[in-house]
Amino acid sequence: MNKIHNKVKLLNRESSLEFLPNLSNNLGPRIYIKRDDEGGRGGGGNKLRKYERIIADAIDKKADTLIIAGHFQSNAARELVGAACQLGLKSVVVCKTMIPEQNPTFNKNGNALLMKLMSADIIAIEQEDDFQTEMERIADNLREEGNVPYIIPFGGSNLLGSLGYLDCANEIIQQFKNVEEKAPDYIITPTGSGGTMAGLIAGFAIAETETRVLGFSVLHKNIEINRIVTSLMNEIIDNIKPNSTIKPNFKIDTNFVGDAYGIATEKGKRAIKMLAELEGIFLCPVYTSKAMAGLIDYIRNNKIGKDETIIFIHTGGMPLVHAYYNLYD
Ligand SMILES: Cc1ncc(COP(=O)(O)O)c(C=O)c1O
Repeated sequence: MNKIHNKVKLLNRESSLEFLPNLSNNLGPRIYIKRDDEGGRGGGGNKLRKYERIIADAIDKKADTLIIAGHFQSNAARELVGAACQLGLKSVVVCKTMIPEQNPTFNKNGNALLMKLMSADIIAIEQEDDFQTEMERIADNLREEGNVPYIIPFGGSNLLGSLGYLDCANEIIQQFKNVEEKAPDYIITPTGSGGTMAGLIAGFAIAETETRVLGFSVLHKNIEINRIVTSLMNEIIDNIKPNSTIKPNFKIDTNFVGDAYGIATEKGKRAIKMLAELEGIFLCPVYTSKAMAGLIDYIRNNKIGKDETIIFIHTGGMPLVHAYYNLYD
């Protein structure tokens, strides 16, 4: 079977698409939320859609051990360990500090705690060590011991991983038909390693909707993220609809990153409170709060019209609320 059609099942149902009545009333436009934070093992989150094809590829290559680079509060690593548990595979998390400790229990709480519960094999490397070199060294050692290792691409953002969000775009298009007459005007997502956004853009463009995908960067503060997303998006389109004249509709805003990746912002903190108070939904300080802060800002500054429809992708990360428990002290 063609690699791009080969998937392992990590999600047993579509994620729900929910209307947010109170946030919509407060801000103006009709706002929906796609609950990709729910469902799946290891606590769920956006990486599971990506891992469905990546792990299928690993299994196809007879791999028995999945290796991922991350940090102690990595959602990507936590979700990979959960998926590996489910499938009876081994996993190794190669870790170094990417976010300065935010409180005395930062490296023990949240994702770190959940990984510990799953007995994750965490190998801490030195700050100056290069992730790729270390993962390859660990893979060589595993091979010598008779294992078959497979290295997960950064953030799960290669072609196979990003296709998971093409699936998500198609899922949304079908779900939205049940609630609104035309396709959504905006899709809002945080963007880090780029695959989630690239898949969404490609999906809505291939379906020939006029939907605009607006990504708020949480990692890169410069146009590098544009290059990453565009190149992944083109790769998806070339694979799914080669030689087409599709016009992708998207924008990436890097103004809501704040000081750095993993450092909470004031606007993000307010966005977390607002969603919790109005809708009982929790966003995280690292990813979704920064995208929601961007969305709120765009609506208040009339960059998004009050008559438009919006879908916010909740990409997960709830354990980070606990890791950053002292944000609201
Ligand atoms: C909760 C959450 N949202 C968004 C992202 C970013 O997704 P991507 O790396 O596909 O841009 C991540 C990545 O780790 C994440 O954990």
